[in-house]
Amino acid sequence: MLAKITQSKTLHWLGRQLLNREDPRAFFDPLTTAINPMWVQQYTPARVERITAETQDTKTFELRPANRWGGFKAGQHLNVNVEINGTRRTRTFSLSSSPALWESQGLITLTIKRLPGGLVTNWLHDDLKAGDVIGLTEAFGDFLIPEEKKPVLFIAGGSGITPILSQLDTMALEHYPGPVTLLYYVRTQSDVIGEEKLSALRSRYPAFSLNIITTHEGSAPRYLKGEDLDSIPGLTGCEIFLCGPKGLMDLATEQLCQRGINEDELHSTFFAPPAPAKLATNDIGGEVTFSTSNLTVDSKGDANLLEIAEAAGLSPQHGCRMGICHQCSCTKTSGTVVNRLTGQVSGPGSESVQLCISIPQGPVALEA
Ligand code: FES
Repeated sequence: MLAKITQSKTLHWLGRQLLNREDPRAFFDPLTTAINPMWVQQYTPARVERITAETQDTKTFELRPANRWGGFKAGQHLNVNVEINGTRRTRTFSLSSSPALWESQGLITLTIKRLPGGLVTNWLHDDLKAGDVIGLTEAFGDFLIPEEKKPVLFIAGGSGITPILSQLDTMALEHYPGPVTLLYYVRTQSDVIGEEKLSALRSRYPAFSLNIITTHEGSAPRYLKGEDLDSIPGLTGCEIFLCGPKGLMDLATEQLCQRGINEDELHSTFFAPPAPAKLATNDIGGEVTFSTSNLTVDSKGDANLLEIAEAAGLSPQHGCRMGICHQCSCTKTSGTVVNRLTGQVSGPGSESVQLCISIPQGPVALEA
C-alpha cells in the first residue's frame, strides 16, 4: 500500500514537473545524459575527436555530431552549448571545415580563438578534452558562396578567416571558376590561422590567390590600404566577403565605397563585439514584464533585456550575445528599448527585438 502511495506521489510530482516546463526535454536531459551524454535531446550532442593548436591563441576542435544533426552550408555558424561550473553557456562560432567532411566522414571543425577574459573560449581552450561531449544547435547564417559564378574577393582579419576556410575548401572541391582572391590581415606571420590549409589550397586550386598582410611587423602598423584593393583585377565585378574585427571591416567598407562599390552589396559577418554606442545613462532602465513567465522585475542602468531575464532566473534562447546571430529575438508587446549598438530608440508598440542588445527605457513588456 505504502509503495502504491509513493508511486502515485512520484507520478504526480513528475507530471507537475513536466507541466511546469515549456520543454519536457529540459527535465529529462539531466537524467539521460548522466547515463550517456550523447542521448541529450535539447541540442545535438557532439563528441570531441581531436584538438589541434593553430597558433598561440587559436585551436581547431574536430567534432563528431550525432547523426541527427542537419548539416550546414560553407560560411555558416552554429551555437555551442557547454556547461561551465554548473551553468549552461551558449556562444556562436563559425564552422571552419567544408560540408563535404561532414557528408563523407560525419565530422566538422570549429576554429576558435581564445578571447581575453572570455569565459567560454578560455574554458574550451583549457578544459575541453578529446572524448568530451558538447552541445550544438543547427547551423544558420547567410554568409554563403554566390550561386552565380562571379569572381570573389575575401577580406579577412585574424580569426575572421574561419568561415572563409570552409568556403575556400568547398570552392576548390566544386571547381568554382574564380578568380578567387583572399586578402588576409594578421598581426604577425605567427598569427596566421589555417596556414597549412591555405598553402595546400594554393597548390591544388589554381583559381585561388592569397595575399597575407602582416599589420604589426614593421616599425609602424600597416592596416588595409587602397593599393591592396587596387591590386585586385576587376574589383567592381567581384562578389565581396568581409569577416574580421570591426576596425578592418569599417576601413574595408570605406575604401570599397570610394571605389564605387555599394555597401549594400557587401557580404559581412564578424564575431567580435561591435563598439557600443554612447548612451545617456539617466534615462535608461525600467520595469520589465516577461508575460509568458508571469514575472515583472525592475532594472537599472545599461543592463540589456537578456541580462535582466537571466538575473531574474529565466533562460531565454541566445547565442552570440552581441547582436549578430538573432537567436535571442523576441516580441516586445509594449514599451521602448534603446539599441545598445546604434543608440537608436525603438517605437512604443509591438515589434521583434534582440534581447542581448536592447536596453529598456521605461516600462517594457515582452512575450517571454
Ligand atoms: S544572442 Fe545573438 S543576437 Fe542576441
